[in-house]
Amino acid sequence: MQRSSVLNLVTTKEFDQKVTVKGWVRTFRSNRFIALNDGSTIKNIQCVIDFENTAEEILKRITTGACVSIVGTLVESQGKGQNSEIQVDELEILGDSNPDEYPIQPKKHSFEFLRENAHLRVRTNTFSAVMRVRSKLSFAVHKYFQENGFNYVNTPIITGSDAEGAGEMFKVTNFEANKAPKNEDGNVDFKQDFFGKETNLTVSGQLEAETYAMALGKVYTFGPTFRAENSNTTRHLSEFWMIEPEVAFMDLEGNMDLSEDFIKSVINYVLENCKDDLEFLDQRFAQEEKGKPQLQRSELGLIDKLKFVTENDFKRVSYTEAIDILRNSKPNKKKKFQFPINEWGADLQSEHERFLVEKHFKCPVILFDYPANIKAFYMRLNDDGKTVRAMDVLFPGIGEIVGGAQREERYDVLIEKMKALDIDEKELWWYLDLRKFGTAVHSGFGLGFERLVQFTTGMGNIRDVIPFPRTPQNAEF
Ligand code: 4AD
Repeated sequence: MQRSSVLNLVTTKEFDQKVTVKGWVRTFRSNRFIALNDGSTIKNIQCVIDFENTAEEILKRITTGACVSIVGTLVESQGKGQNSEIQVDELEILGDSNPDEYPIQPKKHSFEFLRENAHLRVRTNTFSAVMRVRSKLSFAVHKYFQENGFNYVNTPIITGSDAEGAGEMFKVTNFEANKAPKNEDGNVDFKQDFFGKETNLTVSGQLEAETYAMALGKVYTFGPTFRAENSNTTRHLSEFWMIEPEVAFMDLEGNMDLSEDFIKSVINYVLENCKDDLEFLDQRFAQEEKGKPQLQRSELGLIDKLKFVTENDFKRVSYTEAIDILRNSKPNKKKKFQFPINEWGADLQSEHERFLVEKHFKCPVILFDYPANIKAFYMRLNDDGKTVRAMDVLFPGIGEIVGGAQREERYDVLIEKMKALDIDEKELWWYLDLRKFGTAVHSGFGLGFERLVQFTTGMGNIRDVIPFPRTPQNAEF
């Protein structure tokens, strides 16, 4: 007899069939009712044991977390809220779970506690729902790009460049600590290192993706990126996944259209394909809303919030307009901004971004045309000589979810910019080559995958939407 998934068993109407199922015990009540889950759905299948004919020794071993194999008859359930249940004929314990030691008890645990048990937390309802949504979102990302003529490019993890010029890179070296050879100037001689030069983990695949856009036209990356920034916030990870489309012959306007269409499409996919998980999270979200701050607070429930984003236009606002709004606003009647905006040119803090999205426009916002001196070197200079064709997409509860730009395609202007910022031309000779040989207008953006998962699942902390979060002082698993 073929093994059935719990998902099949809780949805089928074909009763009175013999079934076999394997999974982990969530709860065992009254020596009779096992709630069994195998990860295929948020729902458990109830397995009813004939306890009078089951050995005491076996009953004792049916504990939360134990792995069991069950053979029985699927029958229509009389219980409320469940379609079917299994009358158990045979039960085999595949793996015991000592209840005195198993950390995941059948009660609500705090997310902090579960983070310390990241290897087991996916056995809870919340984390299994989040990780299934994450998986479906990954698929939706590839589906969107593949159906729209993009080629998937795998850009390198180990690179010799700093794409963002922000110096937030993890070094990659084969030298043993304190034993690195020095050159005549007394500096570390990276020529003798594994790659013959200084290397780091990539902060973004953008520069390499640009090279492919200049040949394949429309490309995207979707891979891990790394930032050695010491940010202990609910929105920052040291290792996160980034989605980076890069498109030839597309300007900033097209880039904004693409980001909006892409985000709406993947959220719609999840709305259609993760109904049970989203409903579960929505309910959990509603409960949390009342008291604890672990999940985002919002006037709308989770599903309504997702629908709102897919059904409404994102508001497009220039940096200059945003500054005017912020100069004349307060976050609330009593409070001023912690970082008041006094002059044009200031970088926006998350309090400003949140104000624009959550209080002023009350919808996702795309800010564009930022001052050149607060943005990366590769962004195209506008004719005003002081702003660049940059864009950030800002989301409620999340802040910046996308950062992108039209790229500087003019060789001379790019060289000038690099000189001004002291970026070594020799390091980026290959990037400059793109501007020498068949240059063209092109644009792209980077979307932080975990921030998208955070928004889609309503989770308040980015550490709870990636299986094994990497943050400062934390790489246990
Ligand atoms: O704005 P960023 O730094 O842009 C780039 O890296 C560009 N090279 C992307 C491109 O144009 N191809 O990062 C892009 C996005 C942010 O909007 C945010 O969603 C996410 O990446 N991000 C992070 N997510 C989690 N933890 C961090 N430390 C992040 N830093 C950026």
